[in-house]
Amino acid sequence: MEKKTIDLLVHNIGSLVTMQGKSAARTGSEMSNIGAIEQGAVALRDGKIVAVGREEAVLDEIKELTVTAKLDAEGKLVTPGLVDPHTHLVHGGSREHELDLKLKGVSYLEILEQGGGILSTVKATREASEEQLYTKAKSSLDTMLLYGATTVEAKSGYGLTLEDELKQLRVTKELNQHHPVDLVSTFMGAHAVPSEYKEHPMVYVDLVIEDMLPEVKRQGLAEYCDVFCEHGVFTVEQSRKILNAAKELGFGIKIHADEIEPMGGAQLAGELGCVSAEHLLAATDEGLSAMQQAGVVAVCLPATSFNLRLKDHARARTMIEMGVPVALSTDYNPGSSPTESLQLVMTLGCLNLGMTPEEVLTALTINAAHAIGKSETIGSLEIGKQADLVIYNASNLAYLPYHFGINHVNTVIKNGQVVVENGTLVY
Ligand code: NIG
Ligand code: FE
Repeated sequence: MEKKTIDLLVHNIGSLVTMQGKSAARTGSEMSNIGAIEQGAVALRDGKIVAVGREEAVLDEIKELTVTAKLDAEGKLVTPGLVDPHTHLVHGGSREHELDLKLKGVSYLEILEQGGGILSTVKATREASEEQLYTKAKSSLDTMLLYGATTVEAKSGYGLTLEDELKQLRVTKELNQHHPVDLVSTFMGAHAVPSEYKEHPMVYVDLVIEDMLPEVKRQGLAEYCDVFCEHGVFTVEQSRKILNAAKELGFGIKIHADEIEPMGGAQLAGELGCVSAEHLLAATDEGLSAMQQAGVVAVCLPATSFNLRLKDHARARTMIEMGVPVALSTDYNPGSSPTESLQLVMTLGCLNLGMTPEEVLTALTINAAHAIGKSETIGSLEIGKQADLVIYNASNLAYLPYHFGINHVNTVIKNGQVVVENGTLVY
């Protein structure tokens, strides 16, 4: 320890969930090993963790050092900062008018086919100024932080022209620079075929490949590329073409796969070596097995299947049994999942996907970090990792999904700084 100080000592932690242990994405029974410690403490310096474990041991380890500040956790539960690995954060407008259609039984794909759904958000996003998009996304990001998220992935895909996609991606970049939550940017020009290319989808696919991907790369505006591979949106063949082009340019790749119909998107994720495949409600055993072999993280989105009133949900139990690493996410977007709350996702992960609270937390920390390629720096409380921690108004993990629909977060520490205190933003 080169410097003789501790910036912050969080002590008197009743239950400290560290997620220590395995650095690879967790599968099967490993998803239940959450590295929980009773009466714990965490010592931080320069935004990083320098000691973590049982309070006695931590105090002993740092006894020679000057502790600049202390935070008494009052016996509460502490976990690593939550990671939301799949959101459509930056967009214009909202779609509460779809609720009525949904209640009348009109399906998500029918609404899209009629030029609504994603395409109505495309219209609102194109019409919005960069400032308007920034203000709206910042407000959502604040909510995410208040609910415990410290790192969030953000996709474009509501511009669908080069300029409008770049506009969304610039907002993500600005927010990343000015907001305490870290953002991971994904280009999703292949989110829908825009109305002007309805009769010529291949021309749009070529536009994504030839114009958009190289320019996004040149400007360094995204780390990942994602495609909505779905009946009536992009075919498996088109998705393969786009993702291969992205891979060649050096993007990491992701895919919205087999959400509504079993298209073979999960197989494609395995074939191409996607870092993650999302939704997967209709993924077949064959598709899941291809993902398992290639180590693709399954990002399940239970708030989406809940909000779309689908009878079925992603088969998380089968995935866990088959050895596919499972992550969870809000899928925050104005259509299929208008919620920023990862705590709601915890409840739905338990009640609708059949996951245990331990599996759910693994899915929202270390496995979510893997789904966005950030497991070296976040997702667990270990020496040298970013000091991202959440303190809850609860004494045990099961209480979070059990007492649902409210916010349990008391304090959030992001990169060593207290950014939420008593449930209020203080950054
Ligand atoms: O992940 N499935 C495709 N894209 C989003 C929904 C976007 C929207 O409806 O605006 C999703 O659910
Ligand atoms: Fe999505």
